Amino acid sequence: MTSNIVQIPGQVGRTDRPFLEVSDVSHAFAWEGDGKAVLCNISFTVAEGELVCLLGRSGCGKSTLLNILAGFFVPTSGRCLLQGKPISGPGPDRCVVFQEDALFPWLTLRENIAFALKSGDLSGKKPVGEVDRFLDLVGLDGYGDYLPREISGGMKQRVALARVLIRSPRILLMDEPFGALDAQSREASQELLQDLWRQRAQTILFVTHDVQEAVTLADRVLIFGQDSGTIQEELVIALERPRDRASELFQAYCRRLRQGLR
Ligand SMILES: Nc1ncnc2c1ncn2[C@@H]1O[C@H](COP(=O)(O)OP(=O)(O)O)[C@@H](O)[C@H]1O
Ligand SMILES: [Mg+2]
Repeated sequence: MTSNIVQIPGQVGRTDRPFLEVSDVSHAFAWEGDGKAVLCNISFTVAEGELVCLLGRSGCGKSTLLNILAGFFVPTSGRCLLQGKPISGPGPDRCVVFQEDALFPWLTLRENIAFALKSGDLSGKKPVGEVDRFLDLVGLDGYGDYLPREISGGMKQRVALARVLIRSPRILLMDEPFGALDAQSREASQELLQDLWRQRAQTILFVTHDVQEAVTLADRVLIFGQDSGTIQEELVIALERPRDRASELFQAYCRRLRQGLR
């Protein structure tokens, strides 16, 4: 069965007109004692509408790379282009969802989502009625007046998702967003994300250390090396959606990715 797996060796993802282009990005934290680079010459591209997973063990530099793409960190060298434009700081074209939701505890779910419209340059552009449409989109119709403490972790991550989707980012950057959820909520969240991705043709870069999550979600997986700070290889997940976790081929992809992580 493993022979059906499509593997692309060597340098990662070249398309004619990349939507996101990461070229030779290296990064070292100046205040790290040994001055060791966290990222070394990372290069890859993401096509518009693609769902790409960055897979790697804890500490390999996934969040650092995502923070660079979000514009929160400036890389030591290299460049990142979104639709041909250099990324030089945070911008409304890129939104991040983190593992820990950062909802305002004193605001209702509706107010939390509406807050996203007030920040940045979006105020006045979208009617507040939109907020309910986005609550509905993430399956939280009727929960608008709840406070974050009254809902589950999975529901909070759905609010976090609605809060970024309403900003219509060109690319969604997700940093282990379902990592703190129980298995059942995680699977439900993965399904919801795939539905939204399909409906909205949203480009997504999704960071995970979970092999099964990568095979469930990704068109393509970029596998980080453990200590090298490089992308070791890339694997196209050529499975029909929705994906059957119990299938032999799904399991074969999981095994293949586990090997890649070693
Ligand atoms: N702000 C920072 N300052 C110094 N070192 C950092 C900082 N953020 C991350 N690191 C270091 O960079 C490495 C990669 O971290 P990170 O990108 O968070 O990895 P991952 O998200 O894959 O777990 C780790 O060794 C971590 O200690
Ligand atoms: Mg991380």
